[in-house]
Amino acid sequence: MAHLLRGLNQAYRRSLRIPGGPVSRHVYPARAPASIKSVRVIHDSSTNRAAVAAHVSASPQQESTLKTPIVEGSAIKAYSDTVNDFVGVPNIWLRDNCQCSACVHEVTKQRLLDTFQIPRDISITSAVKDSQGVKVAWSDGHKSYYNDDFLAQAALKNNGVIRQGLEKTTLWYSSISDNPPIVQYDAAMNSNEGLKEWLSKIREYGFCYVDGTPPTPEATEQLLERISFIRVTHYGGFYDFTSDLASKDTAYTNIALDAHTDTTYFSDPAGLQAFHLLSHTAGAGGASLLVDGFRAAADLQAQDPQAYELLSRVNVHAHASGNAGISIQPYRGFPVLLHDERDGRLAQVRWNSSDRAGIELPLEVVGSWYEAAAKWHALVSAPEYEYWCQLTPGRVVVFDNWRVMHGRSAFTGKRRICGGYVNRDDFISKFKVLKWGQEGVLKALAVG
Ligand SMILES: [Fe+2]
Ligand SMILES: [Zn+2]
Repeated sequence: MAHLLRGLNQAYRRSLRIPGGPVSRHVYPARAPASIKSVRVIHDSSTNRAAVAAHVSASPQQESTLKTPIVEGSAIKAYSDTVNDFVGVPNIWLRDNCQCSACVHEVTKQRLLDTFQIPRDISITSAVKDSQGVKVAWSDGHKSYYNDDFLAQAALKNNGVIRQGLEKTTLWYSSISDNPPIVQYDAAMNSNEGLKEWLSKIREYGFCYVDGTPPTPEATEQLLERISFIRVTHYGGFYDFTSDLASKDTAYTNIALDAHTDTTYFSDPAGLQAFHLLSHTAGAGGASLLVDGFRAAADLQAQDPQAYELLSRVNVHAHASGNAGISIQPYRGFPVLLHDERDGRLAQVRWNSSDRAGIELPLEVVGSWYEAAAKWHALVSAPEYEYWCQLTPGRVVVFDNWRVMHGRSAFTGKRRICGGYVNRDDFISKFKVLKWGQEGVLKALAVG
């Protein structure tokens, strides 16, 4: 609604780099992510209504859609899907990205080539196309070979697939309860295929259960370490705590927690979080709540683009100050809905009202943020978004803390829960290497 933004003054518009014209012209993202290829309708049997789920097909360009580079005299041309034509590949870029063992260290994969020793006027003395790629002789005497795949991807706009570990995304409502993503502990522990399936499901759905896990902290920790080392924070690393409120000797509460993401007080929030309920005695309650933040964001964007824009542009600060001598805050504020600046894709949901600090708006117009945030809160608290599940010993839930919000209902009695965080980059790195192989990931460094 326009009134949300009507109050924003000129200075604030400038600080957001919004030109003086109507903000509605700059609804963020400016265009649909290039990766959305098709829309699939999921029939929700429980409510008998069709829920539209954007099905993001972000797999790498298929071989058949890659266009073979062409050689014209001494110029090499790669296909650009932006201009829908072949474009010249700059010599400096081509020479800088030579893949030979003199230019890239065979073991460390680091660049050996001194980029700034390349003559700025370097030219190609000969370029010869063969069945696999292009053989190039350079004016500085060096020889290079470029695979067709490498050159075919070089000028495509959707070339962050491998780098970002993009996977098709299935957005969901609470009806995911009919068929939630699950893998088995033995498969995840004992085979790379099982591990890949687990991480692929987390990428696709934002969470996945691991069933058949021995109900011990040791097994749970080992399971998480299949992905990567566990992130240590000021609260510690892998945790295992008992909430025994009967004795009132714990800092942990039994109150209900609204859907939120964790560690908004870090510039780089935890990528994954795992919970394993090891036991719950002498009480009831404590159901776990999961909400697909990307689903809710897509719906908010459709229903109220200006509220969406505001939550995407206004930076919000956060803090963790409960421990003596500590007040952790990110180096800058971040919006609730953080987008990839390159392709406009929603990259991260940061939502934690408990840890929220300043909102980067002039005080006299800060009310507009509250209006947009209230819309978001109403959406993510609606029953159709809230997937409630009762965790049981043996079932670990692992979720993407950049996408899926979590919470829980109040409980009584004594619960023992263990779990931990994994860094986002470590998670994505493991997923990428499992999906495309070390070779595939390395080949795509300059263009993937
Ligand atoms: Fe949390
Ligand atoms: Zn080289």
